[in-house]
Amino acid sequence: MLADKHIVLGVTGGISVYKMCTAVRLLKKAGAQVRVLMTRAATEFVTPLTFSTLSQEEVTVSLWPADPHGSTDRGVKHIDLGLWADAMLVAPATANTIAHLAHGAAEDVITSTVLALRAPLVIAPAMDVDMWEHPATQANIALLKERGHFIIPPESGELASGLTGAGRLPEPDVIVAYLNDVLERTPRDLTGRRILITAGPTHEPIDPVRFIGNRSSGKMGFALANAAALRGADVTLVAGPVALGTPKNVRRIDVETAQQMHDAVMDELPRHTVLIMAAAVADYTPVQVAEHKIKKLGSHAHGISLELRTTLDILHDVAERKTEQTVIGFALETANELEHAKQKLEKKKLDLIVLNSPNDPGAGFGTDTNVVTLITREGNVTKLPRMPKFDVACAILDRLR
Ligand code: CTP
Repeated sequence: MLADKHIVLGVTGGISVYKMCTAVRLLKKAGAQVRVLMTRAATEFVTPLTFSTLSQEEVTVSLWPADPHGSTDRGVKHIDLGLWADAMLVAPATANTIAHLAHGAAEDVITSTVLALRAPLVIAPAMDVDMWEHPATQANIALLKERGHFIIPPESGELASGLTGAGRLPEPDVIVAYLNDVLERTPRDLTGRRILITAGPTHEPIDPVRFIGNRSSGKMGFALANAAALRGADVTLVAGPVALGTPKNVRRIDVETAQQMHDAVMDELPRHTVLIMAAAVADYTPVQVAEHKIKKLGSHAHGISLELRTTLDILHDVAERKTEQTVIGFALETANELEHAKQKLEKKKLDLIVLNSPNDPGAGFGTDTNVVTLITREGNVTKLPRMPKFDVACAILDRLR
Protein backbone atom coordinates (compact mmCIF):
# COMPACT_ATOMS: atom_id res chain seq x y z
CA MET A 1 0.00 0.00 0.00
CA LEU A 2 2.85 2.37 0.72
CA ALA A 3 4.32 2.43 -2.78
CA ASP A 4 4.13 5.96 -4.22
CA LYS A 5 2.10 7.15 -1.24
CA HIS A 6 2.69 10.64 0.17
CA ILE A 7 3.38 10.36 3.88
CA VAL A 8 3.78 13.37 6.16
CA LEU A 9 5.64 12.42 9.33
CA GLY A 10 5.40 14.74 12.33
CA VAL A 11 8.14 14.08 14.89
CA THR A 12 7.71 15.61 18.35
CA GLY A 13 10.18 15.73 21.22
CA GLY A 14 10.67 12.46 23.05
CA ILE A 15 13.53 10.06 23.63
CA SER A 16 12.07 7.62 21.08
CA VAL A 17 12.62 10.05 18.17
CA TYR A 18 15.56 7.83 17.19
CA LYS A 19 13.17 5.01 16.28
CA MET A 20 11.60 7.19 13.61
CA CYS A 21 14.90 7.27 11.68
CA THR A 22 14.46 3.56 11.03
CA ALA A 23 10.75 4.12 10.33
CA VAL A 24 11.64 6.66 7.59
CA ARG A 25 14.05 4.14 6.06
CA LEU A 26 11.32 1.48 6.06
CA LEU A 27 8.82 3.87 4.49
CA LYS A 28 11.31 4.83 1.78
CA LYS A 29 12.13 1.16 1.14
CA ALA A 30 8.40 0.50 0.71
CA GLY A 31 8.36 3.16 -2.01
CA ALA A 32 6.67 6.00 -0.11
CA GLN A 33 7.55 9.69 -0.43
CA VAL A 34 8.15 11.06 3.04
CA ARG A 35 8.11 14.68 4.22
CA VAL A 36 9.30 15.12 7.79
CA LEU A 37 8.12 17.90 10.11
CA MET A 38 9.77 18.37 13.49
CA THR A 39 9.01 20.38 16.59
CA ARG A 40 11.91 22.34 18.09
CA ALA A 41 11.90 19.86 20.99
CA ALA A 42 12.34 16.93 18.57
CA THR A 43 15.48 18.59 17.16
CA GLU A 44 17.01 18.35 20.66
CA PHE A 45 17.07 14.57 20.22
CA VAL A 46 17.90 14.09 16.51
CA THR A 47 18.98 16.76 14.04
CA PRO A 48 16.88 17.67 10.98
CA LEU A 49 19.91 16.69 8.89
CA THR A 50 19.43 13.03 9.85
CA PHE A 51 15.82 13.07 8.70
CA SER A 52 16.51 15.05 5.53
CA THR A 53 19.26 12.59 4.58
CA LEU A 54 16.99 9.60 5.22
CA SER A 55 13.90 11.05 3.55
CA GLN A 56 15.84 12.75 0.74
CA GLU A 57 13.60 15.77 1.29
CA GLU A 58 13.90 19.05 3.11
CA VAL A 59 12.75 18.86 6.75
CA THR A 60 10.40 21.55 8.06
CA VAL A 61 10.80 22.84 11.60
CA SER A 62 9.37 26.33 11.31
CA LEU A 63 6.22 27.67 9.72
CA TRP A 64 8.09 30.79 8.74
CA PRO A 65 10.09 31.18 5.54
CA ALA A 66 13.86 31.00 6.18
CA ASP A 67 14.31 34.29 4.36
CA PRO A 68 11.21 36.45 4.71
CA HIS A 69 12.59 38.95 2.20
CA GLY A 70 12.70 37.88 -1.39
CA SER A 71 11.98 34.20 -0.75
CA THR A 72 9.56 32.29 -2.99
CA ASP A 73 8.25 30.50 0.10
CA ARG A 74 4.62 31.64 0.47
CA GLY A 75 4.52 30.54 4.12
CA VAL A 76 1.71 28.04 3.52
CA LYS A 77 3.68 24.83 3.80
CA HIS A 78 1.23 23.41 6.34
CA ILE A 79 -1.66 23.87 3.88
CA ASP A 80 0.30 22.44 0.95
CA LEU A 81 1.38 19.42 2.99
CA GLY A 82 -2.14 18.90 4.35
CA LEU A 83 -3.35 18.60 0.76
CA TRP A 84 -0.35 16.61 -0.47
CA ALA A 85 -0.58 13.86 2.17
CA ASP A 86 -2.21 10.47 1.58
CA ALA A 87 -1.73 9.93 5.32
CA MET A 88 -0.06 11.74 8.19
CA LEU A 89 1.73 10.06 11.06
CA VAL A 90 2.63 11.84 14.29
CA ALA A 91 5.24 9.70 16.03
CA PRO A 92 6.38 9.94 18.72
CA ALA A 93 3.48 12.10 19.88
CA THR A 94 4.14 13.74 23.25
CA ALA A 95 1.41 14.43 25.83
CA ASN A 96 1.77 18.12 24.96
CA THR A 97 1.27 17.63 21.22
CA ILE A 98 -1.66 15.27 21.88
CA ALA A 99 -3.29 17.97 24.03
CA HIS A 100 -2.78 20.54 21.28
CA LEU A 101 -4.13 18.20 18.63
CA ALA A 102 -7.20 17.38 20.72
CA HIS A 103 -8.02 21.05 21.17
CA GLY A 104 -7.24 22.26 17.67
CA ALA A 105 -4.25 24.44 18.54
CA ALA A 106 -2.06 25.45 15.60
CA GLU A 107 1.08 26.39 17.44
CA ASP A 108 3.74 24.71 15.33
CA VAL A 109 4.22 23.16 11.93
CA ILE A 110 2.83 19.76 13.00
CA THR A 111 -0.36 20.90 14.73
CA SER A 112 -1.02 23.40 11.93
CA THR A 113 -0.62 20.74 9.25
CA VAL A 114 -3.01 18.39 11.11
CA LEU A 115 -5.70 21.08 10.98
CA ALA A 116 -5.20 21.44 7.23
CA LEU A 117 -5.06 17.67 6.64
CA ARG A 118 -7.65 15.94 4.44
CA ALA A 119 -6.19 12.44 4.77
CA PRO A 120 -6.20 9.90 7.64
CA LEU A 121 -4.18 10.82 10.73
CA VAL A 122 -2.29 8.20 12.73
CA ILE A 123 -0.91 9.12 16.15
CA ALA A 124 1.65 7.09 18.08
CA PRO A 125 1.78 8.41 21.66
CA ALA A 126 4.99 7.95 23.64
CA MET A 127 5.58 9.28 27.15
CA ASP A 128 6.08 8.23 30.71
CA VAL A 129 3.49 5.95 32.28
CA ASP A 130 1.98 8.55 34.63
CA MET A 131 1.67 11.09 31.83
CA TRP A 132 0.00 8.45 29.62
CA GLU A 133 -2.42 7.34 32.32
CA HIS A 134 -3.30 10.88 33.40
CA PRO A 135 -7.06 11.49 32.95
CA ALA A 136 -6.27 14.61 30.88
CA THR A 137 -4.20 12.61 28.37
CA GLN A 138 -6.77 9.81 28.27
CA ALA A 139 -9.59 12.32 27.68
CA ASN A 140 -7.58 13.90 24.83
CA ILE A 141 -6.97 10.48 23.28
CA ALA A 142 -10.70 9.64 23.51
CA LEU A 143 -11.52 12.93 21.77
CA LEU A 144 -9.04 12.24 18.96
CA LYS A 145 -10.48 8.74 18.48
CA GLU A 146 -14.02 10.12 18.29
CA ARG A 147 -12.89 12.54 15.65
CA GLY A 148 -11.84 9.53 13.61
CA HIS A 149 -8.09 9.57 14.09
CA PHE A 150 -6.13 6.35 14.56
CA ILE A 151 -4.14 5.80 17.75
CA ILE A 152 -1.33 3.24 17.88
CA PRO A 153 -1.43 2.04 21.48
CA PRO A 154 1.88 2.53 23.30
CA GLU A 155 3.62 -0.60 24.47
CA SER A 156 4.31 -1.55 28.08
CA GLY A 157 7.78 -2.09 29.43
CA GLU A 158 10.75 -0.30 30.89
CA LEU A 159 10.63 3.45 30.20
CA ALA A 160 13.39 6.02 29.83
CA SER A 161 12.64 7.29 33.34
CA GLY A 162 13.35 3.85 34.80
CA LEU A 163 9.67 3.34 35.59
CA THR A 164 7.80 0.39 34.13
CA GLY A 165 4.42 0.68 32.44
CA ALA A 166 2.60 1.73 29.27
CA GLY A 167 4.09 4.59 27.25
CA ARG A 168 6.77 3.11 25.00
CA LEU A 169 6.74 3.89 21.30
CA PRO A 170 6.30 0.59 19.39
CA GLU A 171 9.16 -0.57 17.16
CA PRO A 172 9.44 1.08 13.71
CA ASP A 173 8.21 -2.00 11.80
CA VAL A 174 5.05 -2.10 13.96
CA ILE A 175 4.37 1.58 13.28
CA VAL A 176 4.92 1.22 9.53
CA ALA A 177 2.70 -1.90 9.41
CA TYR A 178 -0.05 0.00 11.26
CA LEU A 179 0.18 2.90 8.80
CA ASN A 180 0.03 0.47 5.88
CA ASP A 181 -3.07 -1.11 7.42
CA VAL A 182 -4.79 2.28 7.80
CA LEU A 183 -4.09 3.06 4.13
CA GLU A 184 -5.49 -0.34 3.18
CA ARG A 185 -8.70 0.31 5.11
CA THR A 186 -9.25 3.83 3.77
CA PRO A 187 -9.08 3.69 -0.02
CA ARG A 188 -10.79 6.72 -1.63
CA ASP A 189 -13.26 4.35 -3.27
CA LEU A 190 -16.45 6.12 -2.11
CA THR A 191 -15.54 9.49 -3.64
CA GLY A 192 -18.64 11.03 -5.19
CA ARG A 193 -21.06 8.90 -3.13
CA ARG A 194 -23.49 10.80 -0.90
CA ILE A 195 -24.24 8.66 2.13
CA LEU A 196 -26.91 9.33 4.74
CA ILE A 197 -26.36 7.52 8.05
CA THR A 198 -28.48 7.43 11.19
CA ALA A 199 -27.04 6.61 14.60
CA GLY A 200 -27.89 6.33 18.26
CA PRO A 201 -31.17 5.98 20.11
CA THR A 202 -34.17 8.27 20.05
CA HIS A 203 -35.65 9.77 23.20
CA GLU A 204 -39.42 9.93 23.45
CA PRO A 205 -40.47 12.55 26.00
CA ILE A 206 -42.90 11.73 28.79
CA ASP A 207 -42.75 15.16 30.44
CA PRO A 208 -40.17 18.01 30.39
CA VAL A 209 -37.63 15.96 32.35
CA ARG A 210 -38.26 12.29 31.52
CA PHE A 211 -38.13 10.20 28.39
CA ILE A 212 -38.30 6.63 27.08
CA GLY A 213 -34.97 5.66 25.53
CA ASN A 214 -32.81 2.65 24.80
CA ARG A 215 -29.22 1.61 25.39
CA SER A 216 -27.81 2.43 21.92
CA SER A 217 -24.52 4.35 22.24
CA GLY A 218 -24.38 5.41 18.58
CA LYS A 219 -20.85 3.98 18.20
CA MET A 220 -21.69 1.75 15.21
CA GLY A 221 -23.34 4.56 13.24
CA PHE A 222 -20.53 6.99 14.08
CA ALA A 223 -17.93 4.40 12.99
CA LEU A 224 -19.79 4.07 9.68
CA ALA A 225 -19.83 7.86 9.23
CA ASN A 226 -16.13 8.10 10.01
CA ALA A 227 -15.11 5.24 7.71
CA ALA A 228 -17.29 6.52 4.85
CA ALA A 229 -15.84 10.05 5.16
CA LEU A 230 -12.27 8.69 5.24
CA ARG A 231 -13.09 6.74 2.08
CA GLY A 232 -14.07 9.94 0.30
CA ALA A 233 -17.87 9.95 0.61
CA ASP A 234 -19.97 13.03 1.39
CA VAL A 235 -21.53 11.98 4.65
CA THR A 236 -24.58 13.28 6.49
CA LEU A 237 -25.08 11.83 9.95
CA VAL A 238 -28.47 12.08 11.60
CA ALA A 239 -27.65 11.50 15.26
CA GLY A 240 -29.98 10.77 18.13
CA PRO A 241 -28.95 11.95 21.61
CA VAL A 242 -25.46 10.50 22.11
CA ALA A 243 -22.31 11.63 23.89
CA LEU A 244 -19.99 11.33 20.89
CA GLY A 245 -17.92 13.90 19.01
CA THR A 246 -18.48 14.38 15.28
CA PRO A 247 -15.99 12.59 13.02
CA LYS A 248 -13.98 14.83 10.72
CA ASN A 249 -15.59 15.83 7.40
CA VAL A 250 -19.02 14.62 8.50
CA ARG A 251 -22.09 16.86 8.38
CA ARG A 252 -24.16 16.20 11.49
CA ILE A 253 -27.85 16.80 12.17
CA ASP A 254 -28.88 16.26 15.78
CA VAL A 255 -32.37 14.97 16.52
CA GLU A 256 -34.07 13.69 19.62
CA THR A 257 -37.31 11.86 18.80
CA ALA A 258 -38.29 9.20 16.25
CA GLN A 259 -40.50 11.78 14.55
CA GLN A 260 -37.59 14.23 14.22
CA MET A 261 -35.34 11.46 12.87
CA HIS A 262 -38.06 10.48 10.42
CA ASP A 263 -38.41 14.07 9.19
CA ALA A 264 -34.64 14.57 8.89
CA VAL A 265 -34.22 11.34 6.88
CA MET A 266 -37.13 12.15 4.56
CA ASP A 267 -35.77 15.64 4.01
CA GLU A 268 -32.22 14.44 3.29
CA LEU A 269 -32.98 11.25 1.33
CA PRO A 270 -33.38 12.84 -2.14
CA ARG A 271 -29.86 14.34 -1.89
CA HIS A 272 -28.22 11.01 -1.09
CA THR A 273 -27.48 7.83 -3.01
CA VAL A 274 -27.17 5.55 0.01
CA LEU A 275 -29.04 5.32 3.33
CA ILE A 276 -27.68 3.30 6.26
CA MET A 277 -30.14 3.11 9.16
CA ALA A 278 -27.95 2.16 12.11
CA ALA A 279 -30.12 4.06 14.61
CA ALA A 280 -32.11 2.26 17.27
CA VAL A 281 -35.35 4.12 16.64
CA ALA A 282 -37.95 3.86 19.41
CA ASP A 283 -40.94 1.75 18.37
CA TYR A 284 -43.28 3.42 20.86
CA THR A 285 -43.81 6.96 22.07
CA PRO A 286 -46.12 8.40 24.74
CA VAL A 287 -49.50 9.47 23.35
CA GLN A 288 -49.43 12.58 25.53
CA VAL A 289 -46.42 14.57 26.68
CA ALA A 290 -47.18 16.20 30.04
CA GLU A 291 -46.62 19.94 29.97
CA HIS A 292 -45.20 19.94 33.49
CA LYS A 293 -43.20 17.41 35.43
CA ILE A 294 -45.46 14.56 36.51
CA LYS A 295 -45.61 14.65 40.32
CA LYS A 296 -45.30 11.58 42.48
CA LEU A 297 -48.61 10.62 44.04
CA GLY A 298 -48.62 8.49 47.17
CA SER A 299 -45.50 7.16 48.80
CA HIS A 300 -45.65 3.41 48.34
CA ALA A 301 -46.73 0.99 45.58
CA HIS A 302 -48.73 3.63 43.77
CA GLY A 303 -49.20 2.54 40.12
CA ILE A 304 -49.13 4.79 37.07
CA SER A 305 -49.78 3.87 33.41
CA LEU A 306 -48.38 5.48 30.30
CA GLU A 307 -50.33 5.17 27.10
CA LEU A 308 -48.03 4.58 24.13
CA ARG A 309 -48.49 4.52 20.38
CA THR A 310 -46.19 3.21 17.64
CA THR A 311 -43.80 5.63 15.98
CA LEU A 312 -43.51 5.97 12.21
CA ASP A 313 -41.29 3.26 10.72
CA ILE A 314 -38.66 5.27 8.86
CA LEU A 315 -37.46 2.43 6.64
CA HIS A 316 -41.02 1.56 5.72
CA ASP A 317 -41.59 5.12 4.50
CA VAL A 318 -38.21 5.16 2.75
CA ALA A 319 -39.24 2.00 0.85
CA GLU A 320 -42.28 3.89 -0.51
CA ARG A 321 -40.33 7.00 -1.52
CA LYS A 322 -36.86 5.87 -2.55
CA THR A 323 -35.80 6.28 -6.16
CA GLU A 324 -32.46 4.60 -6.86
CA GLN A 325 -30.95 4.74 -3.38
CA THR A 326 -29.20 1.73 -1.90
CA VAL A 327 -30.77 1.13 1.52
CA ILE A 328 -29.09 -0.75 4.35
CA GLY A 329 -30.88 -1.57 7.59
CA PHE A 330 -29.88 -3.09 10.89
CA ALA A 331 -31.69 -5.79 12.83
CA LEU A 332 -31.23 -6.35 16.51
CA GLU A 333 -32.54 -9.79 17.39
CA THR A 334 -32.36 -12.00 20.43
CA ALA A 335 -34.18 -15.11 19.09
CA ASN A 336 -34.58 -16.76 15.63
CA GLU A 337 -32.11 -14.10 14.51
CA LEU A 338 -31.54 -15.08 10.89
CA GLU A 339 -35.19 -15.69 10.14
CA HIS A 340 -36.33 -12.41 11.70
CA ALA A 341 -33.60 -10.44 9.95
CA LYS A 342 -34.54 -11.92 6.55
CA GLN A 343 -38.19 -11.01 7.19
CA LYS A 344 -37.18 -7.40 7.97
CA LEU A 345 -35.06 -7.24 4.80
CA GLU A 346 -38.11 -8.27 2.73
CA LYS A 347 -40.64 -6.16 4.58
CA LYS A 348 -38.53 -2.99 4.53
CA LYS A 349 -37.33 -3.61 0.92
CA LEU A 350 -33.66 -3.38 1.89
CA ASP A 351 -30.60 -4.14 -0.23
CA LEU A 352 -28.66 -5.39 2.78
CA ILE A 353 -29.43 -6.02 6.43
CA VAL A 354 -26.84 -6.11 9.20
CA LEU A 355 -27.89 -8.53 11.89
CA ASN A 356 -26.49 -8.11 15.37
CA SER A 357 -27.43 -9.98 18.42
CA PRO A 358 -26.57 -8.42 21.79
CA ASN A 359 -26.10 -11.94 23.20
CA ASP A 360 -22.85 -12.48 21.27
CA PRO A 361 -19.78 -11.79 23.44
CA GLY A 362 -18.12 -8.59 22.14
CA ALA A 363 -21.35 -7.32 20.57
CA GLY A 364 -24.09 -5.02 21.78
CA PHE A 365 -24.56 -1.67 23.41
CA GLY A 366 -21.67 0.63 24.21
CA THR A 367 -18.96 -1.87 23.18
CA ASP A 368 -16.13 -0.95 20.82
CA THR A 369 -16.45 -4.24 18.96
CA ASN A 370 -19.34 -5.92 17.21
CA VAL A 371 -20.27 -9.33 15.81
CA VAL A 372 -22.54 -9.06 12.78
CA THR A 373 -23.99 -11.12 9.96
CA LEU A 374 -24.55 -9.46 6.58
CA ILE A 375 -27.57 -10.67 4.61
CA THR A 376 -28.13 -9.50 1.04
CA ARG A 377 -31.34 -9.20 -0.94
CA GLU A 378 -30.13 -12.19 -3.01
CA GLY A 379 -29.96 -14.28 0.17
CA ASN A 380 -26.17 -14.36 0.67
CA VAL A 381 -25.32 -14.69 4.35
CA THR A 382 -21.86 -13.73 5.67
CA LYS A 383 -21.08 -13.99 9.37
CA LEU A 384 -18.15 -11.76 10.31
CA PRO A 385 -15.90 -12.47 13.30
CA ARG A 386 -15.76 -10.16 16.31
CA MET A 387 -14.09 -6.96 15.09
CA PRO A 388 -13.69 -3.32 16.12
CA LYS A 389 -16.74 -1.30 15.03
CA PHE A 390 -14.54 0.62 12.57
CA ASP A 391 -13.67 -2.64 10.78
CA VAL A 392 -17.32 -3.76 10.82
CA ALA A 393 -18.14 -0.38 9.24
CA CYS A 394 -15.50 -0.96 6.53
CA ALA A 395 -16.93 -4.42 5.77
CA ILE A 396 -20.42 -2.93 5.38
CA LEU A 397 -19.12 -0.10 3.16
CA ASP A 398 -17.22 -2.65 1.01
CA ARG A 399 -20.65 -3.82 -0.14
CA LEU A 400 -21.26 -0.43 -1.76
CA ARG A 401 -18.34 -0.77 -4.16
N1 CTP B 1 -36.31 1.34 12.08
C1 CTP B 1 -36.92 2.40 11.46
N2 CTP B 1 -37.99 3.03 12.04
C2 CTP B 1 -38.48 2.58 13.22
C3 CTP B 1 -37.88 1.46 13.85
C4 CTP B 1 -36.79 0.86 13.25
O1 CTP B 1 -36.49 2.80 10.37
N3 CTP B 1 -39.51 3.21 13.77
C5 CTP B 1 -35.15 0.71 11.42
C6 CTP B 1 -33.92 0.59 12.29
O2 CTP B 1 -33.09 1.73 12.16
C7 CTP B 1 -33.25 -0.65 11.71
C8 CTP B 1 -34.39 -1.49 11.22
O3 CTP B 1 -35.51 -0.61 11.10
O4 CTP B 1 -32.41 -0.34 10.62
C9 CTP B 1 -34.78 -2.62 12.12
O5 CTP B 1 -34.96 -2.15 13.44
P1 CTP B 1 -35.39 -3.11 14.61
O6 CTP B 1 -35.61 -2.31 15.85
O7 CTP B 1 -34.47 -4.30 14.66
O8 CTP B 1 -36.77 -3.68 14.03
P2 CTP B 1 -38.23 -3.20 14.15
O9 CTP B 1 -38.75 -2.96 12.76
O10 CTP B 1 -38.38 -2.05 15.12
O11 CTP B 1 -38.92 -4.52 14.70
P3 CTP B 1 -38.84 -5.19 16.18
O12 CTP B 1 -38.44 -4.08 17.14
O13 CTP B 1 -40.19 -5.71 16.38
O14 CTP B 1 -37.79 -6.27 16.07
